[in-house]
Amino acid sequence: MGNAVAIISSIAGAVTVVVMIVLIRRCTVVKRKMRKKMKKKIVEKVMEELERRKREGEAQACDAALDDVVIEIGPVEKFLSEILNEKPMRFSSEQLAACTRNFSTELGSGGYGVVYKGDLPNGLAVAVKVLKVSMSRKVQEAFMAEIGTIGRTYHVHLVRLYGFCFDRDTKALVYEFLENGSLEKYLYGGAGAGEEDGTAAPAAQPPRLEWKTLHGIAVGTAKGIRYLHEECQQRIVHYDIKPANILLTGDFTPKVADFGLARLGERENTHMSLTGGGRGTPGYAAPELWMALPATEKCDVYSFGMVLFEILGRRRNFDPGHGESKEWFPRWVWERYEQGEIETVVSCADGGIEDEEDREKAEMMCKVALWCVQFQPAARPTMSSVVRMLEGEMAIVPPVNPFHYVMDSSGGSTSSGLWSGTYQSSRDTTGRDSGLSSVSPAAKSDDAMIPDVIKRTDASV
Ligand SMILES: Nc1ncnc2c1ncn2[C@@H]1O[C@H](COP(=O)(O)OP(=O)(O)OP(=O)(O)O)[C@@H](O)[C@H]1O
Ligand SMILES: [Mg+2]
Repeated sequence: MGNAVAIISSIAGAVTVVVMIVLIRRCTVVKRKMRKKMKKKIVEKVMEELERRKREGEAQACDAALDDVVIEIGPVEKFLSEILNEKPMRFSSEQLAACTRNFSTELGSGGYGVVYKGDLPNGLAVAVKVLKVSMSRKVQEAFMAEIGTIGRTYHVHLVRLYGFCFDRDTKALVYEFLENGSLEKYLYGGAGAGEEDGTAAPAAQPPRLEWKTLHGIAVGTAKGIRYLHEECQQRIVHYDIKPANILLTGDFTPKVADFGLARLGERENTHMSLTGGGRGTPGYAAPELWMALPATEKCDVYSFGMVLFEILGRRRNFDPGHGESKEWFPRWVWERYEQGEIETVVSCADGGIEDEEDREKAEMMCKVALWCVQFQPAARPTMSSVVRMLEGEMAIVPPVNPFHYVMDSSGGSTSSGLWSGTYQSSRDTTGRDSGLSSVSPAAKSDDAMIPDVIKRTDASV
């Protein structure tokens, strides 16, 4: 009897343990399910909130009128909140004079005016571009519209616009300051790096950039342009891509400068009827900019291709100092490529690239450059394809001759004067004196600069 009771109680004990285990497991599963459900709810809530903020942000951006951005330069908090609010600030000419210590440190000058180094009261370094223009009412409106757009266009590879001055006598743009200045001097020498901040003693020769750095600069620049063309709210065609408009941070991150200073392209309007218009810099400007053809964002692709050649060769594309066969570098590159001697280009690039991976990148850069400078805009790749090709994520189809329109029928090249003349004479009439308001300062001379052979090709396009 006693035995039976013992057996029964141990069976009951065992059953209780099993039931307890089952219950505990059930509880864990239910808990896990509840946690999952809660997580999902939280994610949904966060997404909703983000959507709401985005919608509000967009609505605000649309409503933002520029005339409400007059600020006092003083309080740092206000300054920071304006920056966080993504609005370009308005400076008075007195404030600019104070920032730049009476415009005492000149960083350089270009087609729109002189650029000065400055410091905001909170220590932020700026570059102040004082525009040498007298603006008609129409141009004033365009100026404000463009500032509105540029001021809200942010990307790691675009120079940031902090503000502007729109006083009676002073029109200026206030940009973030880039310590290492423009790519131009690293490609063909010139003023020393560090000279821009006005503190370093002028060095005779800027440091020689490693090939990897140059490749990074090419990719970063391409990403900046891709953002302008394909990703930002209002599509922007730069029209003046060139090494002087690629600025470099202290660690040589490239940022595209001066975007939005030419006219903007509307999203739905892919072809602009405006031709030339004093835009672009000869040597980099696509044929359609100096011929009576519609210009699209593909003109930036062309100019970027020209920049790639200069990066490859670390030289100006046109340089009579290299002897007749090499004086126009892009054509020489094409001739080498056509002869199956791309190796020669790569060997001469950067004074000879040793690393196998770097050689491959140089070869890719060479092919991408040849594609970018195709005569027909439609034959040029988009900037997103350019980025993918440069990063090795997209196969590159063998390029076709981009220069058939400047080469004679036997396949040889026409006299180098065709291009050198176009390039040289136009370098001297780059519209350096043109202002925002100027429309085709040299429409007539532009035409005169077009070689006959190109005019003939034009007829067949
Ligand atoms: N944000 C900046 N930070 C540092 N240096 C700058 C900045 N902006 C311009 N510079 C310097 O000023 C020089 C002149 O610039 P600017 O844009 O006026 O002329 P450009 O680029 O040669 O010609 P363009 O007028 O056709 O753009 C540049 O080459 C660069 O050295
Ligand atoms: Mg510039």
